[in-house]
This record gives sequence, structure tokens and C-alpha cells, in this order.
Amino acid sequence: MVTVLAIETSCDETAVAVVSDRQILSNIITSQIKIHAEFGGVVPEIAARNHLETINFAIAQAYQDSGLDWHQIDGIAVTAAPGLIGSLMIGMTAAKTLTLIHRKPLIGVHHLEGHIFSAFLADPTLEPPFLCLLVSGGHSSLILMQDYGKYQILGKTRDDAAGEAFDKVARLLGLGYPGGPAIEKVAKGGNPKAFKFPQGVIPNFPYDSSFSGLKTSVLRQTEKCQAQKFTQEIPVADIAASFQETVALALSTRAIKCALEYNLQTIVAVGGVAANSALRSHLTKLVQAHNLRLVFPPLILCTDNAAMIGCAGAMHLERGEISDLSLRSLSRMDISDSHNLYKSTS
Ligand code: KG4
Ligand code: ZN
Repeated sequence: MVTVLAIETSCDETAVAVVSDRQILSNIITSQIKIHAEFGGVVPEIAARNHLETINFAIAQAYQDSGLDWHQIDGIAVTAAPGLIGSLMIGMTAAKTLTLIHRKPLIGVHHLEGHIFSAFLADPTLEPPFLCLLVSGGHSSLILMQDYGKYQILGKTRDDAAGEAFDKVARLLGLGYPGGPAIEKVAKGGNPKAFKFPQGVIPNFPYDSSFSGLKTSVLRQTEKCQAQKFTQEIPVADIAASFQETVALALSTRAIKCALEYNLQTIVAVGGVAANSALRSHLTKLVQAHNLRLVFPPLILCTDNAAMIGCAGAMHLERGEISDLSLRSLSRMDISDSHNLYKSTS
């Protein structure tokens, strides 16, 4: 059994967890959502300052909650890429400091690999190969996990990612930040069939996603409604529900088509947008119709957390894949290049 303390600070959550293989021993998530909400989105400089203020408390709490002693912790895992550079560097510095003080190996983890590993926490019997629908603030990807550490991107984000589209549409409807949960709440009172929006299909690239056209179409519809506002109310709930329905249908049909073409029996759906109830319900129905297996992490593991980073880190440490103190935070990195984070075998 491999136990790691993991740190995740790639965006606006200061998160620290202790994980033993696929079991969570502690999981601290300090969200900065309220701080960024007044700006309508994450302000990188403010995010980095807040990580700095919170990280020591989060480490102490996660360590205490785990009930373990430092000698029972085998390594320190940290999100190395991709993300906001100032935020990543706070977590990286904290992780390197812990490795020096406690003489533990350092394991850099790719943030998207972390999201994929939230599925292993949800279902510890899960084994690759499987198809992963990874939908977050920065990504709407279909990734084939062939084996541990081996990823092939089958579909990628062309422009706005799914979460980004939720955030932008929420802003234009005046629903606040973060957009996903705000749209989901308002959509409950709306008609998902009220408006027909484009699903962002790209000819010859059936698994890529493009949501900027959808966002523009929602904007045009809202402007049209605004122009008529003296005769009728703007149907915010109907627009939100129709937008959410379009994204949920686009992503779930793409994922099923891809799994069938590549002959994959299991689909896992991870990342912040995988918390969305419309997406969960469409995907569940389609998976049942095609007799496939579906793994969803619980909502708390869909959005950013350190337990998923710890689960991926424990896997790498067990395989002898460790980083060294030259490990750098990088704002961009493809998941298929994540093997570059490891220098040596222990
Ligand atoms: O995975 P995540 O926490 O951070 C990134 O790595 O990007 O995802 C954040 C994104 C935001 O765009 C947020 O609006 C979206 O996930 N999100 C949702 C829901 N909860 C969070 N989107 C749709 N429905 C939700 N319930
Ligand atoms: Zn994330």
C-alpha cells in the first residue's frame, strides 16, 4: 500500500489530501469562489495570494485528519501542470519544502490525469482501458486511458471548453460565478426544449467539441428576447435549460459514439461539468441502452480536489515514477506528455 500527501493549487481551490492507494484518508478543499465571484471569474493574482495564505492551514488539517504520522506517509504529490502559473507555484513550493523537511520523494502530477483518477476513487475496481469524458473549466476532451500513464486524446476542445461555456453563458444571463451550478439551479424551472441551439459538431472531427458557436447563439437569442422585453419577460430559465440540454446531449452522444467505435466497455465522466445533473442523466440513459459501464465520481470529487492528485501520485510512486527538485510548474502541458514529469525510478 502506498500513502501520499497531495497538494492541488492549479486554480482557485487550495486543496490538500492524504490518500492510500484508492482510499481517501483526509480531504481538505478551501474554495476561493466567494472572493472571485465579485469579479465574475478567477483573478490569477488574487488566487495566488490566497493559496499562500491558506496552504499551511490546509496541510496541517489534512495531516491531522488523516490520523497518520509523517513516517507513515511515503511521498508528496503535487499538481505540476497545467494551470495558473502563480497558483501552481505556491503548491509546488509547499510540496518541495515538505519533501526536504520529511525526506520524502516528490511526485509531480498532471492535473487532467488527477481528474481521471477521481474515477478510481469512486470505483476502486476500475482498470484501464476505458474512455474518459473530461469536462472542466478548460477542457472538453475524450481521452483513451490505454494503461497506467498512457493516454491518447481522441477528441479535444476547439475553442470554449464546456465549463467555460457554462461560465460565459451564466455571465451573459446575469446568473453569477461559477456558471455551472448557477445555470443548473435556474434550469430546474425552465423548459429544456424551449430553444434549439447548435451542438457544435465539427465536420470530420466527430469527437472534438466547439462551444463558442453555441455561446454566440445563446447571446443572439438573449438579445432578441431583450429587444422584446417591453412585451414579455426574458425567459432566463428556458434559455438556461435549453443551453444545458444542448451541452449535455452533445457531450453524451459524442462519448457513446466514441466508446462504440473504439470498442471500449467503460466510460468515466470526470471534471467540474461532470457534476451536472442533465449530463449525468443523459449519459446514464445512453450507457444503459448500449449496455456499457459508467463511472461518475461523487460531486465533491468532480470539481478540483487534492484526493484525485494523491490517487494518481500513489500510482506513480508505486511504479517507481518520481520527480526531483528540478520539477517545474507549467501553465500548459498535454496529458500525453505527462511522463516527462518523472525523472527516475526509485
Ligand atoms: O474541474 P474544475 O473544478 O476546474 C477545472 O479544472 O477547470 O471545473 C470547473 C468548471 C467551471 O467552469 C464550472 O462552471 C463547472 O466546472 N461546473 C459545472 C457544475 N459545477 C461546476 N458545470 C455544469 N454543472 C455543474 N453542476
Ligand atoms: Zn480541474
